[in-house]
Amino acid sequence: MLEVELNKHFTDLENRFDARLSAVLAVRRTEVSAETTGFSAKYECRVKAQYQKDLMGLLEEGMLLAVRNFKAKKHGNKRFTLLEISRIGPEHFGLQGLSDTSYYPYQFEIIEQSMSDWDTDDKATMMIQISAIPLNYDLIITGNDHQYTKGFTYPVVGERVFILNKNTIHRMYNRQLLQELGLPWDDSKIVTDPDARKDPRIGVIKMFQEEKEPIPIYVSYERLARYHFGVFSFTGGGKSNLVSNILRRVLYHTKDTKVVIFDISMEYPFLLQDVFADKSMKSKIITEIPVADPEHFRKIIVTPRKFEKVDITPTLQTIWKLGRLGHYVEGTDHPPTYEDVLEDIKRLSEDEAKRAVSLNAIASIKIKVLQWIKEHKVERSQTVTKAFLDYLQTEAVAACDKFKVWKTGGLYGWASTRAELANFLEPEEEKKKDDNSYSAEKLVELLEGDTRLLCLSIVEPSIVKQLAITLTSDMLRHRKRQFQVDPQILFVFDEAQEFIPAYDKARGIDSTCTQRIETLLRQGRKYGLGGCVATQRIAYLNTNALQQLHTYFVGPLPRPYDRSLVSSTFTIDQGILEKTLEFAPGQWLLSSYIATGMENVPIFITADNSEDELEKPTGKSGA
Ligand SMILES: Nc1ncnc2c1ncn2[C@@H]1O[C@H](COP(=O)(O)OP(=O)(O)O)[C@@H](O)[C@H]1O
Ligand SMILES: [Mg+2]
Repeated sequence: MLEVELNKHFTDLENRFDARLSAVLAVRRTEVSAETTGFSAKYECRVKAQYQKDLMGLLEEGMLLAVRNFKAKKHGNKRFTLLEISRIGPEHFGLQGLSDTSYYPYQFEIIEQSMSDWDTDDKATMMIQISAIPLNYDLIITGNDHQYTKGFTYPVVGERVFILNKNTIHRMYNRQLLQELGLPWDDSKIVTDPDARKDPRIGVIKMFQEEKEPIPIYVSYERLARYHFGVFSFTGGGKSNLVSNILRRVLYHTKDTKVVIFDISMEYPFLLQDVFADKSMKSKIITEIPVADPEHFRKIIVTPRKFEKVDITPTLQTIWKLGRLGHYVEGTDHPPTYEDVLEDIKRLSEDEAKRAVSLNAIASIKIKVLQWIKEHKVERSQTVTKAFLDYLQTEAVAACDKFKVWKTGGLYGWASTRAELANFLEPEEEKKKDDNSYSAEKLVELLEGDTRLLCLSIVEPSIVKQLAITLTSDMLRHRKRQFQVDPQILFVFDEAQEFIPAYDKARGIDSTCTQRIETLLRQGRKYGLGGCVATQRIAYLNTNALQQLHTYFVGPLPRPYDRSLVSSTFTIDQGILEKTLEFAPGQWLLSSYIATGMENVPIFITADNSEDELEKPTGKSGA
């Protein structure tokens, strides 16, 4: 039985869990490069639990334990060191003593006999050994309330070990976040709903999940987006599903956060179809080629296997009617601006660097241009006028003549053809005619308008990467220039290996792309620009970019190298990380420095299945 007062905070799994801390071991750190060895906590705690036949079915890795520590005396004996179970193993006394060299029939005899013991509560023959790692938090209980203090306090060896109960976990992770979200906090019962529009939760905590009322898990979407997050698991682990689940909730549970998805595998029009069909949520899907009609649209988007036979025509028709589709056009050269002319002049002076007379002519042309800008009070970013081009040609030719620039050379050629540029001043009109085509500039305008969700469903890598480069750089530049942080924009890179490869693996456009996204992640948080990175293989990614992520969702990563890298990059204990190998799609280890209720305490969760939202009639009609 638990001490009465502790009953409120801990559980002994209905009188089944009776355990003691048996040892605290210092983990020796290896000096080998951390990337290949991963990260381990400084101490490992050993717990021995009395055997009880149901216990093995109830204990799980990831459960949180509390043990009185050496500071407990000052707090009425109610200060505890928190631990997380990383390994559980039942032990049988008879089998322990069995040697591999004993007579073989004897070995079989003993093993067979032991089988029936597991079904008894025989504490003399069996025991459960548990390894747990410190969370580096102390829990102080004052009355009904909890306080968490950061830091490691040595737990008292021999002390009783408690399991945190459902309410304590709920309080620990969710209380503050629910208050932040303006949702009611109720100590006596847990109220939660898997419906994405009703409840901002991401899913439920795996601990106690089998019980009637699971514990929901919340994150701060504001901090999740601002400080960037990563989703890592092998293909089929549920990355796109989780990302769409999160994005849907970001859109419905933040005031005005915007989302831009770089959807190189064309999955999101399907995964977020309910959002695209929602009249009240302004959104746009940009494809590579113009879409002819809803049927054509159905053919080009990727559908999860479960939905291959499902008729989603009504939703697609709604999306179509709402005018949610557009296609990408490579920006036609925009008409020249004063800045462009000055750039030309700079380039000319570089080309002609060895010819003094040319440089003289160029200098005087530059003065003339600057004079015009000043006299006419124009911005450098403005499009030039025909009058300016005539002026430019007259002055440039005059300067060339004055300094006797060679008439068949490049500079003279440039000077004498400036008025020709007047032809480029027209095409603006033409572009406006086709409203369904979007250049990079027009996409930036969308983002600066009231569109909340922009999905770039383009499979051609060179195009979608170019867009990633242009959009991230342009938005960062605009924000810097205007000292603007609102509204927040979240840039989502699913299949991130395409966008942020390691530098030594990147050439040409890939190298620019990884560099720009790294810059976005480094600087974005100051300007309200966030990033989400989802990938199945993190080994060949740009580690500088990865280090900017403050929240991570980790699913099964079969390759040990990937796991060590996750462990060392994000300082998650390897023992805890190994648990993810058993996970089914949709189960994740969530750890965050900033967005969850407990800073840097990894927790196992089951995310709500985004596909469930697509089966709801309300989602379909987009009411
Ligand atoms: N939270 C979840 N709950 C239940 N099933 C899920 C969940 N997440 C993913 N799945 C299943 O896993 C499949 C693969 O998910 P997907 O997001 O496409 O994986 P990935 O992007 O990692 O390749 C989905 O079609 C779905 O059936
Ligand atoms: Mg995917």
